[in-house]
Amino acid sequence: MTLSGKHILLIVAGGIAAYKSLDLIRQLRAQGADVTPVLTRAGAQFVTPLSLSALAGRKVYSDLFDLTDEAEMGHIQLSRSADLIVVAPATANIMAQMAQGAASDLASTLLLATDTPVMMAPAMNVRMWDHPATQRNLQQLLADGVLCVGPNSGDMACGEYGSGRMAEPAEILAAVAAHFGPKPLLGRRVLVTSGPTREAIDPVRYISNHSSGAQGAAVAAALRDLGAVVEFVTGPADVPPPHGAVVHKVQSAQDMHDQVMALLPVDAAVFTAAVADWRVKSAAAQKMKKTGKELPVLEFTENPDILAAVSQLPVRQRPRLVVGFAAETENLIDHARAKLRKKGCDWICANDVSPQSGTFGGSDSQIHLVTAQEVETWPHQSKQAAARMLAARMAAALGDR
Ligand code: CTP
Repeated sequence: MTLSGKHILLIVAGGIAAYKSLDLIRQLRAQGADVTPVLTRAGAQFVTPLSLSALAGRKVYSDLFDLTDEAEMGHIQLSRSADLIVVAPATANIMAQMAQGAASDLASTLLLATDTPVMMAPAMNVRMWDHPATQRNLQQLLADGVLCVGPNSGDMACGEYGSGRMAEPAEILAAVAAHFGPKPLLGRRVLVTSGPTREAIDPVRYISNHSSGAQGAAVAAALRDLGAVVEFVTGPADVPPPHGAVVHKVQSAQDMHDQVMALLPVDAAVFTAAVADWRVKSAAAQKMKKTGKELPVLEFTENPDILAAVSQLPVRQRPRLVVGFAAETENLIDHARAKLRKKGCDWICANDVSPQSGTFGGSDSQIHLVTAQEVETWPHQSKQAAARMLAARMAAALGDR
């Protein structure tokens, strides 16, 4: 990755996550980017202009009316000279200003006066993030073409837990690099299944599994970053779907199967979903009650195997590249090879999900890419990095149109 010759205008708004922007500057510059910081009045409550300018090696712009010398660098010129504007942290307030087109200070004026692409990394309290006003603003900004990284879920500085934590500097850096990177999948449509499925026992109970949806979301984001239109078919996952993907929410394996079939044809399909193999044969129409006598006995029936069904479609309907995931707790490669043959897909990404591996619900994975010809063991890396490797491989396999 190199960002050599790229000029990033970094707007630092007022949030506790502003301290991470100092590291972001360091990481952007380490990749060769020039960074010009813009600090809002609220941002200056969290980081000092001196630390920003020391790290950026440049003057910090901090208020519209400081720009007395229009000849030096007017606000229009300031925003237009950049290749990308990054807003990190993007607070609820600056998102509202951006969505409304307000120009009340230097940062919001720059954002309104520019036609340079804008990327934001939201950071705020979980209630503020979940508030309908912020979600409305987010949808507006995405529709306006603003790129969005994060936010992540986790413990927050305010003591609460939830979504709203700013993406890590390395994630923002990866998104910036992807923005400037090649788009070999432009014009391609790729389907990704993700998350667990839920199989009803009765209207209030279900059978499911521990899949967080993290790997699927990462694969979809990586494919999107390479320019693909991503049809993202997801069960009820913990990790939110990636911005920019076309999201289709489903519950059961049968719903997922039907949705996938309805979306064909596509150029390629990746099946990361942890689909329940069985469902209760006849889910009760009403909530099952304790009788005090016998325990209930559930009779199961097999769910459709979506990966196998798509892999075995006639050539004209079959995606050119079908990728399955194999979650195994033992004999990883042997099981993956058998699965590749049985299902008829082109590649299997074999993943060790034994409890000691920490893959399920964890942030890392180690993939073994199994094809008819060979097995390639990839490094132990983040699910995002693995997803980028897979997306690059897929782009190479699909080749030029
Ligand atoms: N898969 C699917 N539909 C199913 C079951 C699995 O599309 N009904 C897909 C998964 O998304 C994954 C791959 O098949 O890409 C392998 O799933 P896995 O659960 O590991 O394999 P199983 O088919 O369940 O085989 P086994 O029970 O032997 O592990």
